[in-house]
Amino acid sequence: TQASLIDPFQRPITYLRLSVTDRCDFRCTYCMAEDMTFLPKKHLLSLEELDRLSTAFIGLGVRKLRITGGEPLVRKDILKYFNAMSRHLESGALDELTLTTNGSQLARFAQPLFDAGVRRVNVSLDSLDPDKFAEITRRGRLDQVLSGIDAAQAAGLRVKINAVALKGFNEDELFDLVDWCASRDMDLTFIEVMPMGDEGHEDRIDQYWPLTDLRDRLAERFTLTPLAERTGGPARYVRLEESGQKIGFITPLTHNFCESCNRVRMTCTGELFMCLGQEDRADLRAPLRAAPDDDGPLIAAIREAISRKPKGHDFDYSRQRPEGQVSRHMSHTGG
Ligand code: GTP
Ligand code: 5AD
Ligand code: SF4
Repeated sequence: TQASLIDPFQRPITYLRLSVTDRCDFRCTYCMAEDMTFLPKKHLLSLEELDRLSTAFIGLGVRKLRITGGEPLVRKDILKYFNAMSRHLESGALDELTLTTNGSQLARFAQPLFDAGVRRVNVSLDSLDPDKFAEITRRGRLDQVLSGIDAAQAAGLRVKINAVALKGFNEDELFDLVDWCASRDMDLTFIEVMPMGDEGHEDRIDQYWPLTDLRDRLAERFTLTPLAERTGGPARYVRLEESGQKIGFITPLTHNFCESCNRVRMTCTGELFMCLGQEDRADLRAPLRAAPDDDGPLIAAIREAISRKPKGHDFDYSRQRPEGQVSRHMSHTGG
C-alpha cells in the first residue's frame, strides 16, 4: 500500500469530489449563465478513465467519494460508474459513495443508486414555491424534484437538502424549509452564496444573505444548540431543540473552515482543483492518457498537486469584483 496524501499543512486528504459532467438540465442563476457553452464530449474523461482515477485516489487513502456536476445524473451511463465503484465499498477501501444532485432524475435513479451502495444523497433545493423554484433554476420543475426526493426516501436513501440562502428570494421561506425538512426527517444545510461565475454577470453580492442573520432569525423561534460534530465538510451544525432536527451552515464568507479541509475536487476533464476558491489546478488527464497501463505518472502528478494545496480560499466580498470573485462557474468544479 502507498503512503497516504498529506498536504503541506498536515491535512490528510481523504475526500474526493468528482465532477462527471459540466452539463445540467437546470440553469440556476447563481451557478450558470442562461446560455451556457458546454465542453465538447471528447474533452470529458471517459467512464473508464473516471474509474481509473477514482481507484488511484482510493489507493492513496481517499475514503469518501462524492460525485457532482453539473448534474451528475445527466451524464450518459453514469450508473455503470456507480456500479463499478461498488467494489471499493465491498472491499472496505471506501467508506462512502455519494452524490450531490438537483434531484430532477432521482425518481429514475434512486433505486439503482441504492443498489450500487449509495446510502445518502444531497439534493439542492432553494424554494418550495413552484414559481420561485422555476425562477431560480430557470428550467427546473419543483414537482419533478419532489417526486425524486420521494423516490430517494422510498429506496432507503438518506436525503440532505442544500439550500442556498438568497437575499430577498428565500428569506421568507426560512421556516417553511425548516418545517418541511423536519416533517420528512431530512437534514437541511444552508449555504452562503459564493462569488463565482462570469465577471460582470449577475452580481452575487446583491444576493448575499449572511447566515449569521439567518441564524439569528432561527433563534427567534427555536432554541439552537451548537453541535461540535463535523462531517469533515465545511458545514457547522446546530440542533433545534423544539424539533430535534439538525441544521447545517456552510459559511465560506463569514467563517473559515479551511483549517480542517480534507478534500480536493476533480473536474470532468481531469483537472484537479486543490481548493474551490483558488484557481490553481493540476492536469491529471495528461498523465492518465500518456500512460494507459501505468498509474505511476498519474500517482506522481496527484502527489505533486497535493503538495501545492493552498491554506485556504480567497473569497472576499469586501474587495468587490473582480478580485475576490472566482471567474469559474460553480458547475465547472462541482460546488
Ligand atoms: P457532506 O458534509 O458529506 O454532507 O457533504 P458537503 O456538505 O460537503 O457536500 P455538498 O455537495 O452538499 O456541499 C454543499 C456545498 O458546500 C457545496 O456545493 C459548496 O457550495 C460548499 N462547499 C463544499 N465544500 C466546500 C469547500 O471545501 N469550500 C467551500 N468554500 N465550499 C464548499
Ligand atoms: N454559491 C453557493 N452555492 C452554490 N451552489 C452552486 N453555485 C453556488 C454558489 N455560487 C450550490 C448548489 C448545490 C451545490 C452543488 O452548490 O445549490 O447545492
Ligand atoms: Fe445545475 Fe446544480 Fe448548477 Fe443548479 S446549482 S445549475 S442544479 S449544477
